Amino acid sequence: MSILVTGGAGFIGSNFVHTWLAGSDELLVNLDKLTYAGNLGNLQSLAQDPRHMFVHGDIADRELVQALLTQHQPRAVLHFAAESHVDRSIHGPLDFIHTNVVGTCQLLESVRAYWSGLSPDVQQSFLFLHVSTDEVYGSLKPQAPAFNETNLYEPNSPYAASKAASDHLVRAWHHTYGLPVLTTNCSNNYGPFHFPEKLIPLVLHNAMAGKPLPIYGDGMQIRDWLFVQDHCRAISRVLEAGRPGETYNIGGWNEKPNIEVVNTLCSLLDELHPRADGKSYAEQITYVKDRAGHDRRYAIDAFKISTELGWRPQETFETGLSKTVAWYLQNQCWVENVTSGGYRDWVTANYAGRA
Ligand code: NAD
Ligand code: TYD
Repeated sequence: MSILVTGGAGFIGSNFVHTWLAGSDELLVNLDKLTYAGNLGNLQSLAQDPRHMFVHGDIADRELVQALLTQHQPRAVLHFAAESHVDRSIHGPLDFIHTNVVGTCQLLESVRAYWSGLSPDVQQSFLFLHVSTDEVYGSLKPQAPAFNETNLYEPNSPYAASKAASDHLVRAWHHTYGLPVLTTNCSNNYGPFHFPEKLIPLVLHNAMAGKPLPIYGDGMQIRDWLFVQDHCRAISRVLEAGRPGETYNIGGWNEKPNIEVVNTLCSLLDELHPRADGKSYAEQITYVKDRAGHDRRYAIDAFKISTELGWRPQETFETGLSKTVAWYLQNQCWVENVTSGGYRDWVTANYAGRA
């Protein structure tokens, strides 16, 4: 038995690979293009593990993907690979179309060809699990109920639109061809191996480097935060017991305005890694020009996955954030590795015009 994971060198994918292999002896084939966001350092502890096979390649490469499927005969494909950063999608949307839309479509076609050739009983138990985001639903008004699985899709950023398109493709491949698919839409993740372009790792990185902590606009935009390993456990549970053709929203019941998240991070750092001058890291907070089209609020109603599949997050925001800060403090080498070279060009491109 084996499974194929795409994007398993990225933030959530690599956490999933570790979480999965902690409880399974199945071969896990990990296909990743190693973009700026993919990092083999996330998988270093698995270098000698025969259960993990890393393959460097693009999900849009039909020949490669079909060869992997034929060779390893996976019982499931878990699709994490994506361009995932909203600000980058504003600067350059076409990479998002290549991977999230065209890449997902090419992957679906490779998987469909493989699945069509399976014997009927194997075909029936096969699953394609598509990992998506709450951002497809758009932005919530302050008092509106949280997103559930029946909300309309109203994506606002190029990233969200490309993920919405990929969700629609997955749905259509189920409806038209009968491919057994599952889709998950999760809220903002945080935790180990998070690339420091996203809010939480960026703030940790900048704080310790003595740099400004940039808050877009008024800092009152709300996100629902979930510890990454809770997301990984939810995905495993959906794979295990989800109903093909269904979508499951995953969230932490944990809405926070950005400024509150940043203040909490500063307090944790003040305690665990105090500044040499004894002042609080909160002094580094700097309000900067807002993101174009910035969604005001996301919130997830995770009632379906909790009642149907019995999943609930194990971490609170406090325990998850403490673990995250501790991980970043203990893994400064990882941070240094991923913030060399191209990372600096990105920081200049994104923040130079915001002061
Ligand atoms: P990430 O950017 O950290 O990692 C993406 C990975 O995909 C990288 O390893 C990259 O090298 C790989 N990749 C990119 N293009 C590829 C291609 N064409 N072929 C093969 N590999 C390719 O992203 P993440 O934060 O780990 O997100 C993983 C998935 O979860 C994405 O689909 C994202 O939309 C979704 N998601 C993310 C969050 C979040 O908070 N980060 C929340 C909900 C859903
Ligand atoms: P981010 O981590 O990029 O995730 P997403 O845009 O997918 O929700 O951003 C989280 C929130 O933090 C979002 O409202 C934008 C805001 N933000 C800042 O205020 N400053 C920053 O430097 C970054 C990267 C994000």
